[in-house]
Amino acid sequence: MDSELGGRSPVHTGPGEDLWGRVLLVGGALACGHPHLPPHLHQAGALCSRFLKPWLGDGLLLSGGDKWSRHRRMLTPAFHFNILKSYVRIFNDSVNIMHAKWKRLASEGSAHLDMFEHISLMTLDSLQKCVFSFDSNCQEKPSEYIAAILELSALVTKRHQQIILHMDFLYHLTSDGRRFRRACRLVHDFTDSVIQERRRTLPDQGLDDLLKAKAKVKTLDFIDVLLLAKDEDGKELSDEDIRAEADTFMFAGHDTTASGLAWVLYNLARHPEHQERCRQEVRELLRDREPKEIEWDDLTQLPFLTMCIKESLRLHPPVTMVSRCCTQDIVLPDGRVIPKGVICLISIFGTHHNPSVWPDPEVYDPFRFDPENTKERSPLAFIPFSAGPRNCIGQTFAMTEMKVVLALTLLRFRILPAGEEPRRKPELILRAEGGLWLRVEPLSAGHQ
Ligand code: HEM
Repeated sequence: MDSELGGRSPVHTGPGEDLWGRVLLVGGALACGHPHLPPHLHQAGALCSRFLKPWLGDGLLLSGGDKWSRHRRMLTPAFHFNILKSYVRIFNDSVNIMHAKWKRLASEGSAHLDMFEHISLMTLDSLQKCVFSFDSNCQEKPSEYIAAILELSALVTKRHQQIILHMDFLYHLTSDGRRFRRACRLVHDFTDSVIQERRRTLPDQGLDDLLKAKAKVKTLDFIDVLLLAKDEDGKELSDEDIRAEADTFMFAGHDTTASGLAWVLYNLARHPEHQERCRQEVRELLRDREPKEIEWDDLTQLPFLTMCIKESLRLHPPVTMVSRCCTQDIVLPDGRVIPKGVICLISIFGTHHNPSVWPDPEVYDPFRFDPENTKERSPLAFIPFSAGPRNCIGQTFAMTEMKVVLALTLLRFRILPAGEEPRRKPELILRAEGGLWLRVEPLSAGHQ
């Protein structure tokens, strides 16, 4: 394998070729982004994909071939900065709600919080507003729709761990199987009703008027963009396609970003010196501003905070592994061949912990991402969002949300460890066993 990026993952204990014969565990450079490889490497249907399919359908994450490439082209404009810009306001609002809750909890004496629980709710709140322009107020009161998404993710993870339930006919006989179907129906009904409602208003309003009206209040949500999308032949997406893509954004965007944020708070809790430096950077930026709100143009003005996020994504990548299937023989630089049909499991975690690229890989050191120190490193040494044509379409959305949330959190709270060291637990995303518990201490307004 590529010597720089480390053939076999030094860390992962996934199946190697010896065990499965047709499955190979490799470092990231080979299959993720080698410029000459994409035509021969297709996204493999990982085990969980089959379990996710009834929920996410043929959305970008699970589709392949021509359908995937047509949709990927049509959806790329949805993540253009002109669209993302208007979501910054939503991120500010959603994090403000979470912080109000934290302040209340702290004043009642319970400042020990499971970061995954709180932040997942917040990322779901944001996504529901960005995808559907729908405010369910889910951070303050229970929401059936949000509860269904959380339940679906938990059920897929549970099913993955119980080999006997991998068979569809058995699974659907169990109570979990029935809960899964019920939650799927609820989520689909919600998405369908938003699409239908939007379609009803489209003809009256006319496309141009709609766009102008929306542009004024700056809220062109993902459903609008999907409804307006056309391919090269002027063909639109069907309602079923739109539902699959919207449901996919909700799934792919909430837990991943929540994991990224929870772990960066953990890393900064363990490194108060870096936490304080980030806080000073944010204070300086927002010094003369009231209310304290992060705007789009601020995002490039937080270099140290950005380094801290990247180093955390290296040490705790939310997605630890991706898989690809070789659609033809692949000859490696050293002459060895990966035969057609082999599924390659690409360990992002292993790539990020390769000691020949990352000395002392377990140490949290944001200065690895100082521009001075990145010049000599291969871009494929750091792949939290994967690489190549099937990389994460939502990465700028995610980085934007993480910067807004982290900046405002550090401005308003001191983050402290809560005792026991968490143990990493890779599920659909990288979690911590029993939750990721931290202590939050509100900073007085004068200190902000
Ligand atoms: C820190 C946050 C995130 C991380 C670490 C992350 C990571 C990834 C990775 C590694 C992949 C490749 C998966 C594979 O090849 O099997 C991926 C794909 C994808 N991500 Fe993300 N993601 C994040 C946030 C988001 C957000 C916010 C959205 C949408 C709003 C999103 C939507 C998607 C979609 C639709 C795909 C499939 C793309 C395709 O196959 O064309 N992700 N993501």
